[in-house]
Amino acid sequence: MVPAAGRGARFGGALPKQYVDLGGAPLIQRTLERVLSHPRIDAAMVALAPDDPHWPRLREVVGKPVFTCWGGDERADSVLAALQALPATVIEDDPVLVHDAARPCVRLADLDALLERGAVHAVGALLAAPVRDTLKRATAATTVAATQPREDLWRALTPQLFRRGGLTRALEAAARAGVAVTDEAMAMERLGLAPLLVEGAEDNIKVTTPADLAFAEFLLARH
Ligand code: C5P
Repeated sequence: MVPAAGRGARFGGALPKQYVDLGGAPLIQRTLERVLSHPRIDAAMVALAPDDPHWPRLREVVGKPVFTCWGGDERADSVLAALQALPATVIEDDPVLVHDAARPCVRLADLDALLERGAVHAVGALLAAPVRDTLKRATAATTVAATQPREDLWRALTPQLFRRGGLTRALEAAARAGVAVTDEAMAMERLGLAPLLVEGAEDNIKVTTPADLAFAEFLLARH
């Protein structure tokens, strides 16, 4: 599942960020090629903005099917739409991965680890990285209110692996409650469930700014 219906407002520029050029191909093309190159990932369902004029110009991702559906106003709405658009051959207990279109640098070894460990965990799992910086909580005047201990803090990355049925129900419950969940794990946590953190590479960055784009280009050339 690749939510790609965002407008990328923080990125600036005329194109939505999932279509900006990353070393000669659109960012989303690079991301799809990376995840679909994994032997255990069979197909992708991409959630697009309803007025997206750019998708038809992408070249085909060789070898594996890429389906599309319409996304929603928030990322969680797009993921839910993608889950609902899956064919019935993907059963309730089948694992699905949700991966941001804006993370082209995910490593195949991290996908291996997530698939292996997430598939045997009762709740599901996400790639994540321990926090390395010292964290400050700010006051309204942008002074330091407190230093947040970082020993047990992790940054949530994607992909995140859950079962089709469980994740659908968790996202539907969050939507009904009007809770804005910013990743899939958060929807599961709301139900009292504890997803597994699988440590992944720090360089699985989410392209959010032009500086990230330059870094992603460097990383892809080096991988
Ligand atoms: O904006 P942000 O970088 O957090 O978006 C993460 C991913 O979620 C991107 O791939 C973006 O296209 C997607 N998204 C979506 N539908 C939205 C908002 C974001 O599919 N309404």
